[in-house]
Amino acid sequence: MWEPACKNRTRTLAGLAPLLASIQSPSPPSVVLRLDPSTRTQALCPHPATARGNPMSRIFITGSTDGLGLAAARTLISQGHDVVLHARSRQRAAAIADTSAAALSLVIGDLASAAETRSIADQVNAFGRMDAVIHNAGIYLERSRGETPEGHAKTLAVNVLAPYLLTAWITRPDRLIYLSSGMHRSGASTLDDIDWKRRPWNASQAYSESKLYIATLAALARHWPDALSNAVDPGWVPTKMGGAGAPDDLEMGHLTQTWLATSDEGAAKVSGGYWYHRQRREAAAEVGDVGFQEALVGRLAELTGVRLFAERG
Ligand SMILES: NC(=O)c1ccc[n+]([C@@H]2O[C@H](COP(=O)([O-])OP(=O)(O)OC[C@H]3O[C@@H](n4cnc5c(N)ncnc54)[C@H](OP(=O)(O)O)[C@@H]3O)[C@@H](O)[C@H]2O)c1
Repeated sequence: MWEPACKNRTRTLAGLAPLLASIQSPSPPSVVLRLDPSTRTQALCPHPATARGNPMSRIFITGSTDGLGLAAARTLISQGHDVVLHARSRQRAAAIADTSAAALSLVIGDLASAAETRSIADQVNAFGRMDAVIHNAGIYLERSRGETPEGHAKTLAVNVLAPYLLTAWITRPDRLIYLSSGMHRSGASTLDDIDWKRRPWNASQAYSESKLYIATLAALARHWPDALSNAVDPGWVPTKMGGAGAPDDLEMGHLTQTWLATSDEGAAKVSGGYWYHRQRREAAAEVGDVGFQEALVGRLAELTGVRLFAERG
């Protein structure tokens, strides 16, 4: 079982009972699992971040029930930050009850559904403005195109449309971080058929394209003067997605996101970067291509009915 750095932050099993009861209750999926502020672990333990003089941040992480999202959440919590976790369902939330107990809260919703994604944004906004949002959740090799409730390819919906919609709907934070992948370099540069309606299904190509689009979205968001926006390639790391044999380092795979989300170092307070293990890397040429950026954001607005940059017409 995971233990926060300060043992006093860990709630007792008795203290977890209300949380577990709310997870098991037949409440709708949009329920917010709010911890009782009077018993929150943060009150029991001095925050290492504040003790070091770093201000504590409030961070929302999508897909924090497993892999890199869960590792990032645990690191940020152990540093004393307020983390809002996210699970696709109450069952998945129950699997991380120990981490939830030390977090600010946990929101629930399936990112394959635009309606549930709207609910996730509403749940997050109920906590006030986040300092940072880490768009981490993702899926990899889907056996087929699938069909979301809105009729989209599932890989596109979870990996691109959901972070696009959350970017539009969550009150804009100071810092936005999007998980891309080195595979984005194999993403097609044409935006024809991004929803896989005409092409025969190719799971690896669909994933690569989705990671090109998300890196491009990160580059576009740098146009907001009040937000820092960056994309991260975590490397090929041993998670449920990466597989046990993945050669890269899980630690290095999540620490770039947590650093970009919270650090006061000048190097972390930049925008429009593409990062790998805390080093700036060149992204594929399309990511910085204004024509490609504009075409992509126009296509995503058509597919979702939501405009990200209203002021851009
Ligand atoms: N692992 C790698 O080698 C690697 C390499 C390059 C990029 N990345 C990127 O890094 C990010 C995290 O990957 P990971 O390796 O940590 O993956 P992971 O272990 O499979 O975890 C993915 C997370 O996203 C959640 N998620 C997936 N679909 C969802 C949905 N429809 N609604 C809500 N939540 C959903 C998962 O929830 P459940 O736990 O319920 O499934 C899980 O919490 C992804 O964006 C991925 O593309 C990973």
